[in-house]
Amino acid sequence: MSKVTVMEHPLIQHKLTFIRDKNTGSKEFRELVEELSLLLAYEVTRNLPLNEVEVETPVCWTKTKQLSGKKMGVIPILRAGLGMVDGILKLIPAAKVGHVGVYRDPKTLKPVEYYCKLPSDIEERELIVVDPMLATGGSAIAAIEFLKDKGGKNIKFMCLVAAPEGVEAVQKEHPDVEIYVASIDNELNEKGYIVPGLGDAGDRLYGTK
Ligand code: PRP
Ligand code: URA
Repeated sequence: MSKVTVMEHPLIQHKLTFIRDKNTGSKEFRELVEELSLLLAYEVTRNLPLNEVEVETPVCWTKTKQLSGKKMGVIPILRAGLGMVDGILKLIPAAKVGHVGVYRDPKTLKPVEYYCKLPSDIEERELIVVDPMLATGGSAIAAIEFLKDKGGKNIKFMCLVAAPEGVEAVQKEHPDVEIYVASIDNELNEKGYIVPGLGDAGDRLYGTK
């Protein structure tokens, strides 16, 4: 069973409150999603390997550490995952970005794949799949399967709000994929929305309905 990390940092919980609020408009919503993604990425990258280097400070030479240059890839699930990319790239600007288009059919709630463009060397990269919402888990499971079919091996999944059903489904289908999330909410409602959730993340990010 894969590990699930719920990020309970006060800044994350505070910002989450504002994106849940139905009165928060698209501009502020986008800014908060970006900030939350940066904060979550801090935890997701906690175990990146370091190597020792020497640097001359104004005072003397010293041994210090730098990232060992592990290649990273950020894979947003279109469309709402796009809102998370810039925040993550602020922390890891050298990451390449691949896109996987999956939308959830509103009637069947089943994922429909419509786009895939990935870095050519994904098998060498540490991949972070991002989507603000993990509801039934169908979209995340399909996107991760896509990546594995194309050779992706080291995959983490990062989201803002999850339903317990979605977490369980991803763990079952992809037990090797660690999940990072700001909140695991109560349940899904009859329309497949996370309760209490924040509504439709894509619509709120881009002002559509
Ligand atoms: C939302 C969300 C996830 C998916 C989660 O996308 O961004 O991708 O639903 O639901 P699931 O876990 O039940 O699959 P949506 O299909 O609304 O598409 P959008 O990003 O284009 O708005
Ligand atoms: N997708 C969303 O954007 N919100 C939900 O609550 C469920 C799926």
